[in-house]
Amino acid sequence: MDLCDLEKYNVDWYTQVRGCSAIVLKPKTTEEVSQILSFCDKNRLAVCPQGGNTSVVGGSVPVFDEIIVSTELMNEIISLDETSGILVCQAGCILENLNNYLADRGLIVPLDLGCKGTCHIGGNVSTNAGGMRLLRYGNMHGNVIGLEAVKANGEVIDCLNTLKKDNTGYHLKHLFIGSEGSLGFITKIALHCPPRSKSRNVALLGLQDFDKVLRTFRKAQAQLGEILSAVDVMDSVTMDFIEDKNHQQSPIGSHPFHLLIETSGSNEVHDSEKVNNFLDDVINSNLISNGTMASEPSKIEAIWSIRENVSNGYKKCGAVFYYDVSLPIEHYYSLVDDMRNHMGDKCERVFGYGHLGDSNLHLQIEMKEYRKELKDYVEPYIFKRTAELKGSISAEHGMGFIKGKYLNLAKPASSIALMRELKKILDPNGILNPYKIFPSH
Ligand code: FAD
Ligand code: LAC
Ligand code: ZN
Repeated sequence: MDLCDLEKYNVDWYTQVRGCSAIVLKPKTTEEVSQILSFCDKNRLAVCPQGGNTSVVGGSVPVFDEIIVSTELMNEIISLDETSGILVCQAGCILENLNNYLADRGLIVPLDLGCKGTCHIGGNVSTNAGGMRLLRYGNMHGNVIGLEAVKANGEVIDCLNTLKKDNTGYHLKHLFIGSEGSLGFITKIALHCPPRSKSRNVALLGLQDFDKVLRTFRKAQAQLGEILSAVDVMDSVTMDFIEDKNHQQSPIGSHPFHLLIETSGSNEVHDSEKVNNFLDDVINSNLISNGTMASEPSKIEAIWSIRENVSNGYKKCGAVFYYDVSLPIEHYYSLVDDMRNHMGDKCERVFGYGHLGDSNLHLQIEMKEYRKELKDYVEPYIFKRTAELKGSISAEHGMGFIKGKYLNLAKPASSIALMRELKKILDPNGILNPYKIFPSH
């Protein structure tokens, strides 16, 4: 492998963080991962586990010259029980490939991200990724039935349970879900995959203010109930950004807010009756100014692509600071207003969008060029403000290298101390993903 080949493993998705590792290892089996880690531990060599390298918090690239261990070649589907919906696969399977495999068998991966064509299921589990379907299916802690992981010293921990119920002792799998490669290297996963819905509807609605957004969301929960599968919101500045950078336009014109509501169910007639009743109600209650509804897959995908592509536009800007917070729902949009006031004319745009259904806001500040003093002006303001509003400074992207220094704003000292103790037990020599999660810089 020459240096050019190494580049893509050393640089993150948004080219914010760059390591300088000279070694990328691509094991195919758990045994090979075990041998690599055992050797590295004995020789005190640091390791950076890597899946699809789509981390947006600098978690997946080395900070210095850590050895990159990639799951790129660990992409085997091991088994699928079509009755229980439990899929067992290696950690390097690409999310979209798994979903296509399951589609042919009437099932679905209970997770959907904009980068589905690149990210690996092992990376998704390691970050406890959220995405568009969390509202319906819950997070990885609920959907991962079992997993296999390799400890820093090479020991294989077999928690690859395939039973939905198993209360025999501690549920050790949870240590590895969302711990961003700091406690072990995930090699195999048993995932619960629900039946694929036969009927899907997507409504894209235009609304005048955020109060109407919340009232519409409440009605959607009450009236669409069990078929509600996603609720995402985009403000008007996000829509301008999408038009400028991604050259996509809203099919319903411009509005202060766009709300994307998806239903998935098993009965087309029943589902469309519910959706139509809901739409009649929000129209009659004067909650929406305009809207469109889609039931055909191509039209559904066209609407989703407007939303899923937002973050691809960041690469086309001079610089973007982006944040991923969750907030009590009543404060969801006030943070965007606060940030606009805080920034004044210091930046090009402040915009907010995200998974409203999970109270998860993506807040961005776009600038002509990267300026350190602006970064210092935005942070820790945003993290402090989020903490004051009783929110979380990382809703779904994790801490990685970039957010690690703010862990003390997110968790009490006693919790951080326990996290460090766990790290010490599982990785006493600190070889696994050093400089990530914890405040080390
Ligand atoms: P990587 O980026 O390679 O790694 C992520 C972390 O996991 C790193 O710390 C790495 O060291 C560790 N890791 C990877 N594999 C393993 C393993 N086998 N064992 C142990 N540790 C491992 N996130 C969301 O939650 N919701 C979204 O909607 C969402 N949308 C996104 C859209 C785009 C366009 C992009 C670029 C990212 C998005 N993300 C989203 C970020 C998200 O965290 C990742 O995309 C995904 O979960 C990471 O998977 P990956 O395979 O790329 O992992
Ligand atoms: C999204 C990523 C940024 O929701 O989490 O598009
Ligand atoms: Zn997201």
